[in-house]
Amino acid sequence: MPSIKKIKGFADLFPEDAAVFTRMENTAREIFSRYGFGELRTPILEKTELFIKSIGEDTDVVGKEMFTFPDRKGRSMTMRPEATAGVVRAFVESGRYQPGKVLKYFTTGPMFRYERPQKGRQRQFHQLNAEIFGAPEPQADAELILMLKSFLNELGLTKLTFELNSLGCHDCRPAYRQALIDFYQSKGRDGFCEDCQRRMDTNPLRVLDCKSASCKELVQGAPEITDHLCGECSDHFAQVKDILGTAGVEYVLNPRLVRGLDYYIRTAFEVTSNDIGSQTAVAGGGRYDGLPKSLGGPDCASTGFACGMERLAMLLGAKDADAPDFYIAVIDDRAANDAMLFAQKLREKGQRGEVSYAGGSMKSRMRAANKTGASKCFILGEAEFAEGTVTVKDMAGDDEQYTVSREEYLKKV
Ligand code: HAM
Repeated sequence: MPSIKKIKGFADLFPEDAAVFTRMENTAREIFSRYGFGELRTPILEKTELFIKSIGEDTDVVGKEMFTFPDRKGRSMTMRPEATAGVVRAFVESGRYQPGKVLKYFTTGPMFRYERPQKGRQRQFHQLNAEIFGAPEPQADAELILMLKSFLNELGLTKLTFELNSLGCHDCRPAYRQALIDFYQSKGRDGFCEDCQRRMDTNPLRVLDCKSASCKELVQGAPEITDHLCGECSDHFAQVKDILGTAGVEYVLNPRLVRGLDYYIRTAFEVTSNDIGSQTAVAGGGRYDGLPKSLGGPDCASTGFACGMERLAMLLGAKDADAPDFYIAVIDDRAANDAMLFAQKLREKGQRGEVSYAGGSMKSRMRAANKTGASKCFILGEAEFAEGTVTVKDMAGDDEQYTVSREEYLKKV
């Protein structure tokens, strides 16, 4: 019978890979807590309308990529494609917001997007996500970027590019939008790809970051948002840049950086790498002040980012498992139970190691002990079983060995 295989675009993480994810999570917990972030865990499944209202109906994520299905009562449910919408929903629903109060949450876990799987792009992937509510100031955007940089540096990732842009606000963006439409029309609509012909009406900014060669060519010389910012947006952006510059963060201004989700205003940023193939963004984020209000909550400033953990893991590489302290080689079957009890006592004393469940030849057991990389091997054969002893072999040193009462040995651990 053919075996059941995992779903396309979904992955199993065995210990060496899972260890890298754990390291990222632990590092994030440590670094994010220095900045006052507390963990928020939200559900993986949410009502579909949450994502339509927040991410935007005309985005690729909502239009093409969501895992959406009816539940048993026919209500439309969606596996979260990102964390921000659920975090905002939870924040609004909890009623925790008070004017003047700043709240900071981080969240981590699996996200789901029905994209074409390739290197660095999965249908189930993991994000580390951080959000600040109640801080309209540019300092909050800068703080997030500084925190992201500290986190990446702590992981040893220093060869990354920080790309920065401002997307303007609801006051200045409409005029820019119109300037873009006029520009596209001057180039002739038909030259653009089918998706972009549609985007021109629904989301003209997205045409700017289309990957198709013909669109890339046509948008050369398009008006830049930074030339159309209102005074307040321009000032806000200048302050973000000023703090980052003073703090020594090297960034690249990218006026084509528009982000794929509709909720952003003002600051938008991405962190990219050239070492992971065609999917270059390892993190992305920005300001989304209007979102809590549009989900029925307070008119509250919001800003945040998310890192793609699979993409960071590609840069970090798999981690070798840490060598254990011991391996117990059972040579005589009758000693198997004693060996298990001896292992249990060692583990209760904080030692890490394994035990061969049954007896076997000295040669095969030694081979197994070597393979685990354990620093000590305990041998339990016929004599050790009869006398309540254990033969201790030092694997790291010069293979010295001695026999000792098990009870005595445990007293000294
Ligand atoms: P995003 O840019 O859509 O932003 O995703 C953030 C990161 O998730 C990307 O930079 C990428 O590393 C990773 N990612 C996205 N899709 C995939 C995929 N299919 N496979 C592997 N990795 C992927 C957001 O999701 C926003 N919610 C970020 C944010 C938080 N903005 C404000 N707060």
